[in-house]
Amino acid sequence: MTTFSAPAKIILYGEHAVVYGQPALAAPVESLRAFAEVHPQRSGSGLRLLAVDTGHDLPVDLAAEVDDALVEMAQRTLRFLGAAPPSAVVEVYSKIPLASGLGSGAAVSAALGRALAWACGVELAPIDLNALVYEVERRHHGTPSGIDNTVIVYDQPILFRSREDFTPLALGAPLTILIGDTGIRAPTRESVGDVRRLLERDRDMTLSTIEAIGAVVEQACVALSNGDLEMAGILMQKNHALLRQLTVSSPELDRLVDTALEAGALGAKLSGGGRGGNMIALVTPRMWETVADRLRGAGAVHVWKTTVA
Ligand code: MEV
Repeated sequence: MTTFSAPAKIILYGEHAVVYGQPALAAPVESLRAFAEVHPQRSGSGLRLLAVDTGHDLPVDLAAEVDDALVEMAQRTLRFLGAAPPSAVVEVYSKIPLASGLGSGAAVSAALGRALAWACGVELAPIDLNALVYEVERRHHGTPSGIDNTVIVYDQPILFRSREDFTPLALGAPLTILIGDTGIRAPTRESVGDVRRLLERDRDMTLSTIEAIGAVVEQACVALSNGDLEMAGILMQKNHALLRQLTVSSPELDRLVDTALEAGALGAKLSGGGRGGNMIALVTPRMWETVADRLRGAGAVHVWKTTVA
């Protein structure tokens, strides 16, 4: 058995506005991962995907039309590689909560793509894996910007301007981040669709909010590269207020954001699609435990600590 994996992600600044061409900053979460385990089988037995978390047992036939993200990722990968389905069972499982803004779908696809390339005995370059994961995201999540698959496949903090233009994020000091889960599942497709409708209804106000988020991201790049954590925190708060204007926050997210700030976090905001899912708080290594306890007391069903460096 050989195991492949891919991390969860957080958006540090710029979600939603990135769908409209603004820059955004994102980072992988190394301790939260999706996995794909390859169990080779005797020759001629074909390929099966075992989705451990849902109990689904999915045979992969290149010719079949199947409405399933895992099978679609397998088909796309094998077609791209020009390979027949290998004789194997691939067990897929994930420690990343579903529909919570942490990129669980893209991480599962990335781990599966790596596993299948290995099972076929071929290399799959990150640029190609990224394009394959993006196509699956597109089918299942509407109009993704491509930031989620990119940070997950390249597994490093990035400044994302477009699918063709992203660079490693230069940090003057490491960031200690808490991730607080509201426990409310909220598909990104819905919040992205609602922002689109808001833009149709009130174009000027929505565009100016989107552009203001882009300006926050540019300022955050400077603050982060200077290691100015105080400014980075202030900019997170600004970003959260702008996301509220886009209507993608929720009472539960706002409560966790306010709690983190009251407990001494340098900044806090929702992260990802919003409406539920997760928020992040920028903390110092000295105070993180206090903030984490307060987040749990305010209803966070999970709190994870991660370092972005
Ligand atoms: C989701 O992690 C980030 C969004 O901006 C959607 C996207 O960029 O595709 C909400």
